Amino acid sequence: MRFHVMTLFPSIFDAYLNESMMKKAIENKKISVDIYNIRDFSKNKHKKVDDYPFGGGAGMVMTPQPIYDTYDHIVKKNNLKNPKVVYLTPKGKVFNQTIANSLSKEEDIILLCGHYEGIDQRIIDLIVTDEISIGDYVLTGGELPALILIDCISRLIPGVLGKEESFMEESFKDNLLEYPQYTRPREFMGMKVPDVLLSGNHKLIDEWRKNKSIQITSERRPDLMKKVIKNDKNK
Ligand SMILES: C[S@@+](CC[C@H](N)C(=O)[O-])C[C@H]1O[C@@H](n2cnc3c(N)ncnc32)[C@H](O)[C@@H]1O
Repeated sequence: MRFHVMTLFPSIFDAYLNESMMKKAIENKKISVDIYNIRDFSKNKHKKVDDYPFGGGAGMVMTPQPIYDTYDHIVKKNNLKNPKVVYLTPKGKVFNQTIANSLSKEEDIILLCGHYEGIDQRIIDLIVTDEISIGDYVLTGGELPALILIDCISRLIPGVLGKEESFMEESFKDNLLEYPQYTRPREFMGMKVPDVLLSGNHKLIDEWRKNKSIQITSERRPDLMKKVIKNDKNK
């Protein structure tokens, strides 16, 4: 999987991509992340990348020329044909595990990070294939949302996580939230690990985990629980 990121703030990506699982995934060539500074492509003599909104209103809007030229450069450099271009925006479809699963099948994804009041609509009409939000709140820029997508999609790519099972049993698998996890010591500040997890009986452990998942999902996410019940009925 190759990620191509268009941003005005490339250095935001450095720390996150140089640590832990992302670093390993890049070193092991499971993913690549190329960052492009939109400002480098501005044809304005002062490298300006934003302007006042037509019709008035607060803030600035990112101008189309530098974004389009960055996109054009990425497409030509990598010989891409009709690539997925995701614009991170609070107006987009809210990101979830299903969208992550589907995006993990792509070979190339271009991620477009907005800033200020966002980007000129004509860029969206011209090159963007998907508008994705990471939640119903407004951030300063699309860089954190882009990193969230890169992280979430990358861990679904075979070989990125240590064991394939690590994501096979996580939250959102079959719409259920994950059961509680425990590790050593067996007792901490008077609180004991549930006996069943120490029993060695895998059938009982699986049952206990499934029941806990159902209980937690029902309490915290009745919206997901409705989907679980609907899917069970359709089986
Ligand atoms: C201050 S926001 C612009 C908000 C825009 N004026 C609006 O009301 O929809 C600047 C940039 O941050 C990014 N952004 C902010 N919140 C986001 C979210 N919840 N999900 C994805 N991207 C977001 C987008 O790239 C956006 O262009």
